[in-house]
Amino acid sequence: MTTFYTQNDVKSFVQTLKLKNKTIGFVPTMGALHEGHLSLVKNAMTDNDIVFVSIFVNPTQFDNSSDLEKYPRTLDADVDLLKTVGENIYVYAPNVQDIYKKEVKAENFSYDGLEFEMEGKFRTGHFDGVGTIVKRLFEIVTPNNAYFGEKDFQQLMIIKKLVSKYHIPVNVVGSEIYREASGLAMSSRNQRLSDEARKESAFIYQTLLKAKEKFGTKSATKVKEWVQEQFEKHPLLTLEYVEIANSKNLKTVKRKSKNETYRIFIAAFIENIRLIDNIALN
Ligand code: PAF
Repeated sequence: MTTFYTQNDVKSFVQTLKLKNKTIGFVPTMGALHEGHLSLVKNAMTDNDIVFVSIFVNPTQFDNSSDLEKYPRTLDADVDLLKTVGENIYVYAPNVQDIYKKEVKAENFSYDGLEFEMEGKFRTGHFDGVGTIVKRLFEIVTPNNAYFGEKDFQQLMIIKKLVSKYHIPVNVVGSEIYREASGLAMSSRNQRLSDEARKESAFIYQTLLKAKEKFGTKSATKVKEWVQEQFEKHPLLTLEYVEIANSKNLKTVKRKSKNETYRIFIAAFIENIRLIDNIALN
């Protein structure tokens, strides 16, 4: 397996691939890889001739410096894990300078209002940082297809908006959330949880499932209130937000309509670690 550390090396290699008409699948990550990432890589391997995985903890998408500092960085283990999946995988693991040169700063993006919902309300500038890095990585790797997990459902929608608004010729593919046996959505942040917190965090998915049942007969407001009450009773988890939103535009549901599809989203803290999850409601 080859690991590239500079965008110039990636670009020269990609040129040789294009001359041979090879298709490129791309899985952008911040490392600390888990089964969820590997499932994206496997999907990418099925659809493309070769696969690039970027491993880069992007500073401009963190609104909290301690979260950035504590984000797990495990490049050697990540490369070893990727080796277990297949041969035709190339890693791009740049440093901050290779991506940002002298100015570590996000560009400003408009995603037609998607950026003001949920994560956008609680993580100032987060989606400008995500747009900045994903656009730059797409320009470097020039993939045919790029793969993202639905755990970050809002991010997935924002990236789809980014490619359509900025006419970036990449097909963005979303994949279902990969879960631990307990139901906890897989996340690189799970590595930081104590055993107890990891066990207790399954409560997030269990609550989402129960909320889905309730959504059959109750209003979105009532379901959200019920979720808030459940978290208030939980000794370790602190709810940041629960939202029920239209899956197409992420606007808060006021009144349910049979013709629309909805999702429920939760962000919660445990041991100061922020976890997010979501499921489809209909
Ligand atoms: O989902 C992530 O891991 C990151 O937000 C991404 C897409 C790799 C950009 O840094």
